[in-house]
Amino acid sequence: MASSMRSLLSDHSRYVESFRLFLENSTEHQCMLEFIDRKLPGIISSIGKGKSAINILSVGGGSGEIDLQILSKVQAKYPGVAINNEVIEPSNEQILSYKERVAKTSKLENIKFTWHKETSSEYESRIKEKKEFKKWEFIHMIQMLYYVKDIPATIQYFHSLLEAKAKLLIILVSGTSGWAQLWKKYGPRLPLNDLCLYVSSADIKEQLDIIGLKYQIYELPSTMDITSCFIAGNKEGELLLDFLTETCYFSKTAPLDLKNEIMEELKKPECSEERGGKVFFNNSLSAIVIEP
Ligand SMILES: C[S@@+](CC[C@H](N)C(=O)[O-])C[C@H]1O[C@@H](n2cnc3c(N)ncnc32)[C@H](O)[C@@H]1O
Repeated sequence: MASSMRSLLSDHSRYVESFRLFLENSTEHQCMLEFIDRKLPGIISSIGKGKSAINILSVGGGSGEIDLQILSKVQAKYPGVAINNEVIEPSNEQILSYKERVAKTSKLENIKFTWHKETSSEYESRIKEKKEFKKWEFIHMIQMLYYVKDIPATIQYFHSLLEAKAKLLIILVSGTSGWAQLWKKYGPRLPLNDLCLYVSSADIKEQLDIIGLKYQIYELPSTMDITSCFIAGNKEGELLLDFLTETCYFSKTAPLDLKNEIMEELKKPECSEERGGKVFFNNSLSAIVIEP
C-alpha cells in the first residue's frame, strides 16, 4: 500500500460529501424504505403485545431519515402506544440533523426522543457501569457495524438487551454485492485503519452461526450509478470512487497499477451491470432479523 493513501474517514467533510453523493446516485434508501414498507410490519407484529410503552434503540441512527420511517410503522401497528426512542450516535452533526428532522415532522407526539452522543461501545460501558438493566422491544443497527471494533461482542451485547418478543435488526451490504467482491479482493491493498472494517452479511451470518443466534435474512436489491467514475477528472466520479474505496482522493493518491485494476474490477459482472450506456454497481443490502 502506498503511504500517501489514507482512509476517507480521516477527512470528515470529504466523507460527508461523498456519502451524500452516494445516496443521490444509489437506491440505498429506497430499497430500505421498500423493506420497511413491505416486511417490517410483519417483523414487529408482536414486539409491543401487552406493553404500555415500546422502547426502541437506534444504534448509529445517523440523521434519522430511516429511523422516522421505522417509527411510523411502529405507530401504525400500535396506535396511541407511547414510544421511547433512544439513539446512539457519535457524530454531533448527525444528531443535529436528526433533531431538525424531528422538529419538522408531524405526528410524533407520542414519541419521546433521547440522543446519546457516543459510540456503541461507549454506550455499553456506560450502561454497564451504571448497572442499568433496561430492556428493549426493538433494536436496530443500520449500516453501522463497519465502524465497530468487535462485531460479535457488540451483537451479543445488544442481543442481551432484548425483551422476550423483541427483535434486533441489522442492515449492511450483502455478501453478493459488489462491495463484498471489491473488499475481498482489494481490502488488503486499501488504506488499513481501525475505523472501518470491510464486512458483509456473509461474515455476519458466519458469526451468528458461531454464536448460535437464531435469525432470518432478507435480500434488498439495490444499485449505484457509478458511470461518472469512468469520466477522467469528473469531480462527482472522484468522490464516488473515494466512497467505493473508502480512500481519500483515491484517483490522485493510489498507485497506478491499483487504480487500473480497481477501475477494471468495477466494470466486471461480479461488481456491476452495464445498461443503456451506464454502469450500475451492485449495492445490494441484507437485512438480518435476530430473535431474542
Ligand atoms: C452510514 S451511516 C448510517 C446512518 C443511518 N443508520 C442510515 O442508514 O441512514 C453510519 C452511522 O453510524 C455512526 N457510527 C459510526 N461509528 C459508530 C459507532 N462505533 N457506534 C455507533 N454509531 C457509529 C456514524 O456517525 C453514522 O451516523
